[in-house]
Amino acid sequence: MKHTDVKEILSSQEFVGKTVTVCGWVRTSRNSKSVAFIELNDGTSLKNIQIVVDKSSGADYKEPRVGMSLKVTGTAAAGRNNTIELNASPENIEVLGECPTDYPLQKKGHTLEFLRSMPHLRGRSNTFNAVWRVRSVLAASLHKFFQSNNYVYVNTPLITGSDCEGAGEMFQVTTIGYNNEYKTEEEYYANDFFGKRAGLSVSGQLEGEVAAMAMGKIYTFGPSFRAENSNTPKHLAEFWHIEPEVAFAELDDVIEIAENMLKFVIRELLETCPDEIAFFDAHFEKGLKARLEELISHDFGRVTYTEAIKLLQESGEDFVYPVEWGCDLQTEHERYISEKVFKKAVFVTDYPKEIKSFYMKQNPDGKTVAAVDLLVPGVGEIIGGSEREADYDKLVAAMKERNMNLDLYSDYLDLRKYGSVPHGGFGLGFERLIMYTTGMANIRDVILYPRTVGSIR
Ligand code: 4AD
Repeated sequence: MKHTDVKEILSSQEFVGKTVTVCGWVRTSRNSKSVAFIELNDGTSLKNIQIVVDKSSGADYKEPRVGMSLKVTGTAAAGRNNTIELNASPENIEVLGECPTDYPLQKKGHTLEFLRSMPHLRGRSNTFNAVWRVRSVLAASLHKFFQSNNYVYVNTPLITGSDCEGAGEMFQVTTIGYNNEYKTEEEYYANDFFGKRAGLSVSGQLEGEVAAMAMGKIYTFGPSFRAENSNTPKHLAEFWHIEPEVAFAELDDVIEIAENMLKFVIRELLETCPDEIAFFDAHFEKGLKARLEELISHDFGRVTYTEAIKLLQESGEDFVYPVEWGCDLQTEHERYISEKVFKKAVFVTDYPKEIKSFYMKQNPDGKTVAAVDLLVPGVGEIIGGSEREADYDKLVAAMKERNMNLDLYSDYLDLRKYGSVPHGGFGLGFERLIMYTTGMANIRDVILYPRTVGSIR
């Protein structure tokens, strides 16, 4: 269908005086005796284009209802405040789709909870129009950052036989229904599709390491699945995960890459989406733009886990979860560190080995591993990463301590046998990045169809 994107028309005065065709959905409509106004949005821009309908010819004009889809041909004209509008006559307005009066988005100002109940329609509200675009722009920028720095994009398997994080949060993949005749677990798995237990991957890291050991620098960008029973505003059962993995790199290098990557994509976002950022600043988080500008112009903070525990213990705060060396940092602790102590993004490094995964490089102190989490104000952790254990014997020892089945990880162990190198990487939760850059407080509002415990649509 030949037409011009509203975004193109609104961004160039060159259209003035020209005949153009636009398509879109009616956001509002006003009618009077000689003239009518329609606000049309086609999704390409947060802004609507105003159609000014000249009724003086006496042609039949049926006022369109909110939600209807139209194709309009008219003459672009300079409107107020430097905008461009479209002058059209009634006969050049074609109805593509009717919209009955039960259309749920008749009025503005719906709550996010209400909009969440209609994931198929909420993209037609300003809020979700802006969120989906920010999501798209951030995705493109992430690719740009890695591609322009010689990383190779790899696609790691979604169905896997090994649990990367070892936290037992894998969804099972099976073709055998509940009514099975098998007597033992072994017999059951042996008869299943893959002949052994399989699940949805919680992370592409292990296969990412395989690729990095050949290509040097790689990244993945795909979904990860976690069967975590955490009904929180920052956990999804299916989230999008960016995982760079770099050979010839130590923990400091991993931290530098993470900081450069975030600064790059946020700088691009501020340049590409000024309207969307202004919208979120006005409606969701006052000071968002200043916060993002601040982030890209200063170094991130850095603190060890052991120092962070001390800061928390000396804070005088009444935390719900008690703080002692060896505990996992909870969101309340993470937010205290980034919001109250550092007042900016902060890398926390060198966690106790017991609370981190088997693959992390063991530090000489015998107690901690070369892990890193990035904590940001408002959200908490958005990145988790580490330098990997590159020593075969140490890795095997860590896996045995955790009673892991080494047979399932033979490829992974081979990497430490054949030309092992220091290497590391991290995982960035894409939805958490979107929350941080938009000020949206609930992860369910930054993905098209959120999957959370007890909820799928
Ligand atoms: O810290 P995590 O579990 O680290 C890994 O998966 C490593 N294998 C990454 C690596 O080193 N390649 O997860 C990384 C990030 C978290 O910081 C968080 O942003 C996001 O993934 N994440 C989730 N996002 C939404 N919902 C969930 N349930 C998430 N779990 C993790």
